[in-house]
Amino acid sequence: MKIEFYRHNLAKEDKDEVIKVLNSLFLTTGDCVAEFEKKLAKYVGSKYAVGLTSCTNALELAVKYFGIGHEDEVITTPMSFIATANAIEYAGAKPVFVDVESNTGNIDASLIEQAITKKTKAIIVVHLYGQMCDMKRIRKIADKYKLKVIEDAAHCLEGERDGIKVGQLGDIACYSFYATKNLTSGEGGAISCNDKKIYEWMLRARQHGMSKNAATRYSKKYEHYDMEFLGNKCNMSNIQAALMVKQLDRIEGYLDMREKLARKYDKGFLKNKNIKTPAVISGGKHARHLYTIWVDRDKRDEYMHLLQDAGIGVAVNFRPIHLMKYYREKYGYKKGSFPISEKIGDSTITLPFYIKLSDKEVKYVIDTVNTITNG
Ligand SMILES: Cc1ncc(COP(=O)(O)O)c(C=O)c1O
Repeated sequence: MKIEFYRHNLAKEDKDEVIKVLNSLFLTTGDCVAEFEKKLAKYVGSKYAVGLTSCTNALELAVKYFGIGHEDEVITTPMSFIATANAIEYAGAKPVFVDVESNTGNIDASLIEQAITKKTKAIIVVHLYGQMCDMKRIRKIADKYKLKVIEDAAHCLEGERDGIKVGQLGDIACYSFYATKNLTSGEGGAISCNDKKIYEWMLRARQHGMSKNAATRYSKKYEHYDMEFLGNKCNMSNIQAALMVKQLDRIEGYLDMREKLARKYDKGFLKNKNIKTPAVISGGKHARHLYTIWVDRDKRDEYMHLLQDAGIGVAVNFRPIHLMKYYREKYGYKKGSFPISEKIGDSTITLPFYIKLSDKEVKYVIDTVNTITNG
C-alpha cells in the first residue's frame, strides 16, 4: 500500500472560484482577497484579517509592526518550524528560547518570566500541532512586563482554549495556507487583529509600504501612490483567495472528520507501550493539524525508515530550532540547552493525517506502526 504523507481536499467549487478569477481582469490583490479576508476575520472572531503570501511573511511583518530591531529580544519556543525564529532574526533582534511543556510541546508559560530581560519586547507563541498555548496566562505575563504577543497560528486556525479563540488575546495572529495546512492555497498566509491601526499598516506593509494598491490605482481615475515606509512584497493574490473562499465554509466539517480520525489513531495506539501521544487539554478545541507520535528517541529514525519502506509517508515536526546550524553557530546553543524540546525533536514521528484516508488505510497505518514499534 502507498499512503502519501498528505493529500489535499480541494472541491469542484474551489476550482470553479479560481476559474472565475482566471477569466476576470484582476489576478492580483482585489475583490476576492477582500472577500476572503472578511470571511477569515469572521471565522476567527477578530475584527480584521489581511491576506499575505505566507505565514513567514505574516510573522515578519508582525515583528516589524512593533518596531522590534537590533538590541531587542523576543521570547519564543524552539519546538516549531524555523520560520518562527527566523521572523525575529529578519528584524535583527535576538530570539530567546524557552523550553516547552513535556506533555503538549507548547511553550511552558511557567518558564517565560525568568527569560524576560530589559531588552524583551515580545513573545511569539506557537500553537503546536493545532492545540492552543495557555494564552490567558501568557497574556497576563505580557501585560505585567508590557510585552506584545504574536501568535504563530500556522497549525491552529480553528483552535480554542478556555473560551478564547486564536487571535483574541494576542496582538497579532499569523496563519499559514501552505500546501498541507487545514486551509490551503498551496502557499499563502494572513494575519488577524482587532486594532484598526495594525490592519491599515498591514495593508500597506504587504505592498512595499505603498499608499495605494493596484486595485485602488486602476479602478478609478489614476491616482499617484506614495511610499510611506519600507514594507515587504507579500500581498495575497485573487487566485489564492479564490481557492480558499469556499474552503472556509467547509472547515468545521473537516475538523470534525479529523477529530474522528485522531480518535481512531488514539484507540489504535492505546495499548502500545512504546508510543506516547501529545496530551490534549480538556475543554478546548484542538485544530487537529498534525498527528504525531512520540517513540524511543534512539529508534525513531529506524522506525521512520521502516514506515517509509512500508509505503507510509512520514515527517518530523519538529527538530528544535536552537540546534539548527545557524542558531548553534550564532548563539552557541548546544545539546542540552532545551532538553524537553530536544527529547520531542528526537522522538517524534508525524503520521499521515487527512480526511481522504480510507478506513483501510488508517488500519494499515495503525497496524504497521504497532508492528514496527513492538518489533
Ligand atoms: C509552526 C509554523 N510556523 C510557521 C510556518 C511557516 O508557514 P509558511 O510556510 O506559510 O511561511 C509553518 C509552516 O509550516 C509552521 O509549521
